[in-house]
Amino acid sequence: KQANVMLDKRAVIGEIDERIYGSFIEHMGRAVYGGIFEPDHPEADEQGFRRDVISLISDLQVPIIRYPGGNMVSAYNWEDGVGPKSERPRRLELAWQVIETNQFGTNEFVDFANKVGSEVMMAINLGTRGIDAARNLVEYCNHPAGSYWSDKRREHGYEAAHNIKTWCLGNEMDGDWQIGQKTAVEYGRLAAESGKAMKQVDPSIELVTCGSSGSGMATFPEWEAVTLEHTYEIADYISLHQYFGNRDNDSQNYLASTMELEHFINTVTSVCDYLKAKKRSKKTMMLSFDEWNVWYHSNEDDKKLERWQTAPPQLEDRYNMEDALLVGGILITFLKHADRIKMACLAQLVNVIAPIVTENGGGSWKQTIYYPYMHASVYGRGTSLHTVATSPKFDTKDFTDVPYTDSAVVYNEEQEELTIFALNRHLEEDVLTHYSLQDFEGYEVHEHLVMSNPDLKAANSINGEKVKPVKASDYTFEGTTLQVKLAKASWNVVRLR
Ligand code: AHR
Repeated sequence: KQANVMLDKRAVIGEIDERIYGSFIEHMGRAVYGGIFEPDHPEADEQGFRRDVISLISDLQVPIIRYPGGNMVSAYNWEDGVGPKSERPRRLELAWQVIETNQFGTNEFVDFANKVGSEVMMAINLGTRGIDAARNLVEYCNHPAGSYWSDKRREHGYEAAHNIKTWCLGNEMDGDWQIGQKTAVEYGRLAAESGKAMKQVDPSIELVTCGSSGSGMATFPEWEAVTLEHTYEIADYISLHQYFGNRDNDSQNYLASTMELEHFINTVTSVCDYLKAKKRSKKTMMLSFDEWNVWYHSNEDDKKLERWQTAPPQLEDRYNMEDALLVGGILITFLKHADRIKMACLAQLVNVIAPIVTENGGGSWKQTIYYPYMHASVYGRGTSLHTVATSPKFDTKDFTDVPYTDSAVVYNEEQEELTIFALNRHLEEDVLTHYSLQDFEGYEVHEHLVMSNPDLKAANSINGEKVKPVKASDYTFEGTTLQVKLAKASWNVVRLR
């Protein structure tokens, strides 16, 4: 099989906002406790943060991390997590039915984010709370000094303001699982008024208004249309969330599900632009895909967990080869929408549906999905280029005309580097792909990395990595034509300079 990809360095989709390689840490399961924070661990630093985890996160170059939820934020009292640890309350955390000890909170998270070189994306509680708690939290975090909450922060040992720039106006407020679920009008009004007060405290912040919890929601996309009527002026981004799973064990259909993602992104973009026209606005609403991943492997185990434990192993999906392929496909899709998607968060980062897994008191290791995420984050900085592509296609149960191969191309003008991310979702055959790189004469292939495994269910564990990238040389580059053999069911990164 053969495929073709043409590109032109003047045909730019958009400057890639590095925050599309963000991630997410929620107070749930072993994400915080036993994940990033384990004071008794031999690798713990003076603040109780695990050094081994810091190192694995740092290698991913995560630019921004969303915190503290997720569903958890919709009943969270942020005041519980600041001040002397001995005075912090143990609470029933209703969203995940666990005990929250509050031994880790806002200030600890800001310190942690600084250690791994990430910005913070802070979510506020619009489930059980609203304007008052939100504006107080912005004052606590961002006001320099001389007011009740900013002086509290200083009293708590943080003289300088945290200056958190990005704030989420609640989480998945359309979902019936959400504490304080709202109708679109209820949410729109509350988000708009909370956002207004927050920006009155600190006009430099940016706000993310809640979109639907997924494209499968019955209220999608009406939720977007109605809520944006209220929040269009105050918000800078609208959120999208989507999780995937191969529940029917139909790998070809599963790998085609980026088609659904594409449709989701296009629909949200259209609704935003409809509102822009309706409001005669000059502002273009940008997209924050602030929860995305594969999530289904752990569903049955989670049903067996007892309630009211502290840091139980919730949502601990073990990822395999095909999940890594899908994650690569999702990242390619985001790059193709670099003009509108300005932030995205792989949900989540440690233990809970995560690329990094830890053992309590023990080691830490990388799941299969760690690698495509790392490749995109580390090499996918610059401008995203349009591609004109032809590829053999296939049909599945849910999708038609799905191209077997998919590529995204990133040009980093400053570094004079061109990076091709390519997926072959053909399960039986390699595809020889010709890239016409007329603007890149004189470039040479610096590296071709491939991830593949004949067993799509192969997974990594603490005992070793069955799925990891290897260097390959399945290419020729003559003149300006690069030919790459994309092995069956493989994720590829070709770096030229
Ligand atoms: O990431 C896990 C959960 O998925 C989050 O708490 C919630 O926002 C979403 O439903």
